[in-house]
Amino acid sequence: MSEISKKVCLIGDFGVGKTSLIRRFVDRQFSDHYLSTVGVKISRKVIEFKKQNQAEMLNLQLIIWDIEGSAKFKAIVPSYLKGAIGAIIVGDLTRQETINHLTDHIQLFLSINSKASIVVAFNKSDLIESEQSNLLFQLNFLTRHKQVSAAYLTSAKTGKNVDRIFHTLAHQIIKPE
Ligand code: GTP
Ligand code: MG
Repeated sequence: MSEISKKVCLIGDFGVGKTSLIRRFVDRQFSDHYLSTVGVKISRKVIEFKKQNQAEMLNLQLIIWDIEGSAKFKAIVPSYLKGAIGAIIVGDLTRQETINHLTDHIQLFLSINSKASIVVAFNKSDLIESEQSNLLFQLNFLTRHKQVSAAYLTSAKTGKNVDRIFHTLAHQIIKPE
């Protein structure tokens, strides 16, 4: 069995749910309690793949960098992003300004890792009513951001699309050039 490790980052404004998405994915847990991340926290999770047309299994260890959303430390964020091969950019559907800032986060990430894969999480989807209009919005977002390979409505609270978004990113990462 072959094994590789790859660094991915979660980026977005403060309080959008970056830590909660990681906690749901890695520990299968959620808490309503808000404890803002200071600096960066690193988690690890192994995903098993069966390579296409090959019998061999591949273990991909995601090294997940949870980066604080606070603007106060913006100057040091670029150093946290270095060496990442993928990112989940997170916005909070209940706070429009966090959605408006997605483009800035995408650009900052790409300015450091120009070839990396990007997926977008529209998080806290359990708190919004109209899925339909948000799906349309999501589609519109994807057509305007060609560098983003997928976008999902997620909920760290219910678990909706959480595994899917991490697995989509993982597939992008191991995809042959
Ligand atoms: P910083 O570390 O400050 O940048 O914040 P963060 O992006 O890591 O956000 P965090 O995961 O700490 O979540 C902030 C708050 O939102 C917490 O109270 C969470 O419980 C809540 N939250 C996160 N995701 C969801 C979600 O999908 N649904 C709901 N209802 N609440 C959520
Ligand atoms: Mg956090």
